[in-house]
Amino acid sequence: MIRVSAPGKLILFGEHAVVYGEAAIATAVDKRAFVTACELDENKIIVESKNLGNAIESTLKEETSDPIVKAAQVALETLGKKVGIGIEINSEIPVGVGMGSSASVVTATAAAVLGLFSGIIDPTEVAQIAFEAEKIAHGKPSGIDNAITTFGGTIHFKKGTIEVLENKELEIVVGNTGTRRNTRAIVEGVRKYIEDPRMATHLYKISSITNRAKKALLQNDLVELGKLMDENHKCLRDLGVSSKELEKLVQTAKGAGALGAKLTGAGGGGCMIAIAENPEKVIEALEAAGASAFLVRTNQKGVEIEKE
Ligand code: PMV
Repeated sequence: MIRVSAPGKLILFGEHAVVYGEAAIATAVDKRAFVTACELDENKIIVESKNLGNAIESTLKEETSDPIVKAAQVALETLGKKVGIGIEINSEIPVGVGMGSSASVVTATAAAVLGLFSGIIDPTEVAQIAFEAEKIAHGKPSGIDNAITTFGGTIHFKKGTIEVLENKELEIVVGNTGTRRNTRAIVEGVRKYIEDPRMATHLYKISSITNRAKKALLQNDLVELGKLMDENHKCLRDLGVSSKELEKLVQTAKGAGALGAKLTGAGGGGCMIAIAENPEKVIEALEAAGASAFLVRTNQKGVEIEKE
């Protein structure tokens, strides 16, 4: 038996633009998904989780629409093994709201299956398998989610090239609208939208914001980071991926003194983030506005085997 964990994530800058080859910045946060894997006597993959209700059962080869089963299948194929695997998931990451729940679970599943037989995990191999599994949920993902949940820290990601940033750990306020959304559908919506060349300028604006944000992060310039978050949010709103609830929470955070606030991830619902000199005040205001709000730390460890 093996127990593996992988972090949740936040995209700090550059979501959506990253799908079109522009840069984005993501960070691993201190909410994790834990996956336990063991060998089974039957040649089946069985996935159990409190969130899932009933267990999911699959053969080792059958076509699947479940990213977790896919991650286990591809990991077994990579190892050349034909054995059954039982997978149990426990996750602290809110589901379907842009905090990387699905990427974290498939990353931890891929690592658990690989590690079960060798005791070690090769992050590059894990990230590739997680990417295959993410395609089921996202269609054509940029790869940033599986990269950050595998490697951890804070990364600057562009066309699959990963630069680990040596920035100082930050505290980020997260406000969850509680509205789950479908990343695949939102990404497809943006694709249609930017066929209009006037819309494509939003992507270039986001790209320039991300480059400035990288410098501000490395200099730990929170005031500049806040301004850039506001600018990035405005571009995302113009791209059509904000929502009434997100706008309310972004305004609320700003009203409570946040240095900057933006939606994070695909948008359309899900979470917003803010940085603030007095984060507790922002959290209180977000809660009063009906959100679930909490503080997370950036720059957390990537996928790892948990000690007994
Ligand atoms: O829905 P999330 O938080 O996993 O974010 C997806 C980020 C996008 O840039 C919108 C899509 C992608 O594949 O990068």
